[in-house]
Amino acid sequence: MLIREYSPRDIEWVLWIERACFPENQQYNATTFHSLHVKDPNLFIVAEYQGVIIGYAVGERWGDVGRIVSIAVHPSYQGRGIGSKLLEALEEKMLTRGVKTVRLEVGVSNTPAINLYLKHGYEPINIIEGYYGEENALVMAKRIKD
Ligand SMILES: CC(C)(COP(=O)(O)OP(=O)(O)OC[C@H]1O[C@@H](n2cnc3c(N)ncnc32)[C@H](O)[C@@H]1OP(=O)(O)O)[C@@H](O)C(=O)NCCC(=O)NCCS
Repeated sequence: MLIREYSPRDIEWVLWIERACFPENQQYNATTFHSLHVKDPNLFIVAEYQGVIIGYAVGERWGDVGRIVSIAVHPSYQGRGIGSKLLEALEEKMLTRGVKTVRLEVGVSNTPAINLYLKHGYEPINIIEGYYGEENALVMAKRIKD
């Protein structure tokens, strides 16, 4: 499996993963992915296996604060360590861009994702009510550089 930077030609794969992983009202569209890519090209990465894009992670940055915008692995490939690899690779990219703290929001009922972040040292810092419509968001953060 190869982790590499996203290229615009990957968009159909990324949308395929998006549709498989998120309810319709939480899916990003091609325009949003394009904007995220233009804003921070190095902070959009994909996992490729045998020519198929099976996961992606995308972040953004303001100064030394990074934010994980989204991370997803196609359900057929979940539970094999790919989410962890994408998260570690995105943190590395953020480090090279001068990020010291990484933040993210995750649905309070999204146990797989919360466990992934806890396993990688993220700590819960806040709750945002109604962030995903009915569902609240847990805000988590991790210091990646002193
Ligand atoms: C969250 C997600 C990216 C994890 O990807 P993954 O490749 O399956 O994760 P990994 O195999 O690397 O697992 C890493 C850790 O995540 C946690 N985890 C993953 N799947 C889990 C599950 N079904 N239940 C509980 N914890 C889980 C575990 O802590 C796991 O570590 P372990 O294997 O030592 O127990 C994946 O479940 C996904 O795409 N979910 C849908 C999209 C989504 O909700 N993204 C998060 C948006 S904030």
